[in-house]
Amino acid sequence: MLEPAGRVAMVSGASRGIGRAVAERLACAGYRISAGLRDPRRAPPEWHACRYDAEEAVGAQAWTAATLAEFGRIDVLVNAAGINPMARFLDSDETAFDALMTVNVKAPMRLIRAAWPTLVASGTGRIVNIASLSGKRVRNDNAGYAMAKAALVSLTQAVRREGWEHGIRATAFCPGFVETDMTAHVTKQPRALMSRPEDIAAVIETVVRLPNTASVAELLLNCRHEDML
Ligand code: NAI
Repeated sequence: MLEPAGRVAMVSGASRGIGRAVAERLACAGYRISAGLRDPRRAPPEWHACRYDAEEAVGAQAWTAATLAEFGRIDVLVNAAGINPMARFLDSDETAFDALMTVNVKAPMRLIRAAWPTLVASGTGRIVNIASLSGKRVRNDNAGYAMAKAALVSLTQAVRREGWEHGIRATAFCPGFVETDMTAHVTKQPRALMSRPEDIAAVIETVVRLPNTASVAELLLNCRHEDML
């Protein structure tokens, strides 16, 4: 297992939910945290907190540059920021669809691109993209969300291919229902029976600490039984 001491982890969406739990877990393990948030005041003082809005194209470069200025290296990038507005494929208004592709696909791609040289320099760079079981199968009307998460899984595979020889290992993490603000409206699964952000964070800590010779390409994590998942 890789030793966290001295290593730097960038976590987007660290203000709440899964991103928050991951940043807390990695900080506890000894990683130095650079948190990307729309409102940096929401991060605890011991983290390096940067304003990062996934809807702004320049945000990735700015946050990455600020992280490098603070720590001089980046070893781990966790793309947890995400949205799920309803986007049916029969809707003629594509506003929600475009937002989904921008925040859930292009923003992680831009962050990976911006951090790439320093992840290569690390020799053991790690990228975790929080995709979803919705990227593996479609079970509700939100085709736009499923399409965006499937695209994020594809991006992860592309990153694995390009990054392998540089020691970069990427993982598409695909949870089912997780008890966060994003699922506050969900009634088909009791909240007490949803996965917990802390449990996802524990798995992610293990994934990013595994050596280059033990790479997890995709992780499917469910709170209920589905055939094959
Ligand atoms: P959440 O709604 O609690 O957290 C989303 C995070 O993304 C927040 O920190 C929010 O501030 C941030 N965010 C949203 N738009 C942003 C923007 N434009 N710029 C910067 N940050 C932005 O939801 P949750 O559950 O923690 O979601 C985290 C990731 O996990 C998302 O990518 C989501 O799609 C994914 N996911 C969530 C599941 C669930 O059941 N909650 C299941 C599968 C995947």
